[in-house]
Amino acid sequence: MRRAALILGLAGALVAPAGLHADQAGDPAAGKAATGLCRTCHGLNGYARIPIAPHIGGEHPSYIRHQLTAFRDGTRVHEIMSVVAAPLSDRQIADLSAWFAAQTFRVALPAGVRPEDAPAACALCHGADGVAVLKDAPNLAGENAIYIDTQLKAFRTGRRVHEIMSPIAAELSDAEIRAAAEWYAAVRLEIDPAP
Ligand code: HEC
Ligand code: HEC
Repeated sequence: MRRAALILGLAGALVAPAGLHADQAGDPAAGKAATGLCRTCHGLNGYARIPIAPHIGGEHPSYIRHQLTAFRDGTRVHEIMSVVAAPLSDRQIADLSAWFAAQTFRVALPAGVRPEDAPAACALCHGADGVAVLKDAPNLAGENAIYIDTQLKAFRTGRRVHEIMSPIAAELSDAEIRAAAEWYAAVRLEIDPAP
């Protein structure tokens, strides 16, 4: 109960200020032209080509932009992405975000699995099928279970910090982390080929 109240409070806090930072609109065509490096790992359409890279096609542009800015500015650290993001300008970040966000995708729960069995504490923002219902939250559908597990543990230890996810992850046991990671990793994700 306490956790549910906490999460609802957080969701309210997140929804309220959303209008304050309006999207700096990026140009998807310019973003596409800048994906030379990104494609090796994330694919041209944002469907990851290596298991450690997340799928980013169809994420909300503000989420992608926030992460690239965090890698560039050092508030999120990763041996590859910190280097990749270091030289990006705000304009390039907006364009790349617009490109990957413009990709269309479909998700499907595994046969026989009921949406109401999704981890309730997560589905509120990430959806039962891993398609985010808040614009600042990422899709989790079809991400590698190890990626999801690693990110949750990073929030729990403070290596990755976010006003919503840090307090949520702080209360999760290893078993709850594994169950949520397995649930979302099992969702089938297809991202259409890039136009
Ligand atoms: C050599 C492989 C590689 C290249 C090249 C690369 N990435 Fe990544 N990217 C990764 C990995 C691995 C992660 C996961 C980082 C982590 O574990 O925190 C990631 C994470 C991200 C994230 C965060 C996604 C999320 O769900 O939080 C975004 C956004 C992203 N990359 C965009 C890009 C863009 C845009 C480019 C090109 C400018 C790019 N990446 C180039 C490997 C790569
Ligand atoms: C109140 C909304 C909310 C709830 C509830 C919530 N999340 Fe999140 N989650 C977010 C937001 C917002 C982010 C983006 C964090 C950032 O920008 O770094 C996020 C990020 C994540 C990420 C990082 C994904 C990536 O691509 O790097 C994972 C994994 C995650 N959440 C898992 C969970 C799980 C598992 C639960 C349930 C135990 C949960 N979340 C509950 C809002 C929420």
